[in-house]
This record gives sequence, structure tokens and C-alpha cells, in this order.
Amino acid sequence: MNEQTRKTRVAVIFGGRSTEHSVSCVSAASVLANVDPDRFEVVPVGITPQGRWVLGPGDPATLALTGRELPSLSTDLVAVNQVDTLAEVDVVFPLLHGAFGEDGTIQGLLELAGVPYVGAGVLSSAVVMDKEYTKKLLAAEGLPIGAYEVLRPNVRTLSGGQKDRLGLPVFVKPARAGSSYGISKVTSWDELDGAIAFARAVDPKVIIEAMVVGREIECGVLEFPDGRTEASLPSEVRISADFEYYDFEAKYLDDALELDIPAKIGDAAIESVRALSVRAFQAMDGQGLARVDFFVRPDGELVINELNTMPGFTPSSAFPKMWAVTGVDYQSLVTILLETAVARGTGLR
Ligand SMILES: Nc1ncnc2c1ncn2[C@@H]1O[C@H](COP(=O)(O)OP(=O)(O)O)[C@@H](O)[C@H]1O
Ligand SMILES: [Mg+2]
Repeated sequence: MNEQTRKTRVAVIFGGRSTEHSVSCVSAASVLANVDPDRFEVVPVGITPQGRWVLGPGDPATLALTGRELPSLSTDLVAVNQVDTLAEVDVVFPLLHGAFGEDGTIQGLLELAGVPYVGAGVLSSAVVMDKEYTKKLLAAEGLPIGAYEVLRPNVRTLSGGQKDRLGLPVFVKPARAGSSYGISKVTSWDELDGAIAFARAVDPKVIIEAMVVGREIECGVLEFPDGRTEASLPSEVRISADFEYYDFEAKYLDDALELDIPAKIGDAAIESVRALSVRAFQAMDGQGLARVDFFVRPDGELVINELNTMPGFTPSSAFPKMWAVTGVDYQSLVTILLETAVARGTGLR
């Protein structure tokens, strides 16, 4: 086969050492099943919860979510060498969520190896993984965020003045996590220290936010191979009344949520969400893709909650669904992500 007809070799890397290992496996099951086979040749590469690199299972279906059973990579898969694996491919899809994946670490490894990869670079990945620095950069660009306080590892709890400033309820969160791990809603100050301990089990740095009352709206940002950046139609996440907020169970295990795409917030609000999403993406030095999550207060005011540089790609995930409604189907979305990564290359850009 000559160079022109050779397919682009893609390593889809998934699983990983973070608490979101299983979510990544479920995302990988659908990406692996949807890569255009005429253009790409795929090498599935798993990272076990212990951090070992293995050749992924041949059948992506074994990674899918079956009922309430969360998938995890079995430890008896064949180990692969990182350097050899990366030397053999043209581009990597680091389909990893959370620490050691979405936080700039694997992006640094890929930069060193000189292999192009889907999504945000080192700086952007690291910033967006950290809810404190995300808010600081959004605020620096004049983008709307809610009130918050940060507890660094050496600070035990909030001062009286900080409590008065935030008011109740508050959301207590690990500063660098995802999928709602370690998060609790606190409605009485008696519960605060327990909630801080719960978050600190995930991350010694804790962020405490005033509750924003409003509807939850998400928007997908996508970069095209020619450098154009566009926002999808936004979706509203509607959570069934059994759940207090969008926690892990609601996200992945229960049929607890419904997505309205486009969100029924009126055309003007839709356009504001899309415009703010592109600005937030640029404020984070975003590349490739991001999901931007908002609250819309009852008076229509928008507040940015957070961004995700590697949003979920499971069959029920908002990012691929929003793009499908906007006119980019799942397979085309994966093709655009891979082509953008190849066009961008590595190094300063
Ligand atoms: N400040 C807040 N006000 C209201 N609800 C919140 C707030 N922070 C988090 N939540 C609820 O908790 C969920 C998870 O919080 P989020 O910051 O998105 O964490 P994760 O990174 O784990 O997704 C949100 O989708 C929302 O339902
Ligand atoms: Mg979130």
C-alpha cells in the first residue's frame, strides 16, 4: 500500500488512573465503534486503574455500560510499551477523563513524543481541570462566574466572613475532579466540615461555591481543521425530581436525566450561550473541543459553571448529541477531531 492510500493510524487511549476510569471505558466503546473505517486504522490502548498500558480488548462492546455494571479494564490484557505504541501511530485520541488524562499529563507525554493528539494542549488541559484557575481566567476575560472560595491544603475550613459572603447552600467540591466525585451540597454550616473531608479524600485543594439557582445548560465547542471554532446548539439537562443535583448516579447509572436539544430558553439566550462558549474556550486557550457548562438564572442571567476539555462520549453524552442536532453526526465528529489534531501537529502553535 502506498503513502497516499495508507489509512491514518489512530491510538484511542482510554481507561486511566482517575476515578473516571469506567466513564472513559464507556466513552471508548462508542468512539471505537464509530471511527470511519475507510480512513482510519484504530489501535485501542487501555490504561488500567494501576496505570499499566495494555492493548485494549478487540471487541469494544465489552467496554460498554451494561445495566448498572461499570466496566473496568481487566488486568490480564497484554501489556504494551508506551514509547513503541506512540511511535507506531499518526495521531492519538486521549479519551481520558480526570487526573492523569484530562489534566495535561498525557498531553505532555504526547508533546514530548511529537505525536499529534485530539483536544486541548498541556496548559489548557491543566487549567480547565482546576476549577479555581478556570474561574480566575474566566473572570479575567470578564466572563460571568459565581461566588467561590478556595481552601488550600493547609487551610482547614471557611472563616466566618467567607461563610457570610457565600451564604447557604454551598457546593463543596474537590478542585480537580469530575463526574461529581467528592461533591456535596451543604444546606447547614454543621455539615460543612464533613463535606470538606469528603472532597479532600479526592483532592487536598477544595473549592466552595455559592449555590446558583437556575437551569443547567451545556454547549459544545468544536475546532475544525481550518482553525474555525464553532459552538453547537446548547442542551438543557433536566434531572428527575429524585435527585438533588446532577450527581454521578444521575449522570451515568439512572435514566434520571433528559436532554432538551436545543434547550428551550429562547433564541436570544441560545445565541448568548453559543457566543459565551466560544469566548470561554478562547479564554482557556482551548484546542479541538470543549463542553462549556452554564447555569441560567430565573432572570435569564448566564453563569459559567465549568468547562471540560474531554467531555463524555458515551451514547447518552451531551457533547455528541448536541453536535448531532447541530448537523455533525457522531462519525463525522470523530473525523473532524482527528483531522484537526493532525492539522495542528505538536509544539508551539
Ligand atoms: N454552584 C453551584 N450551584 C448549583 N449547582 C451546582 C453548583 N456547583 C455544582 N452544582 C451541581 O453539581 C453538579 C456537578 O458539579 P460540577 O461543578 O459540574 O462538577 P463535575 O466537574 O464533577 O461535573 C452540577 O452539574 C450541578 O448540578
Ligand atoms: Mg460538571
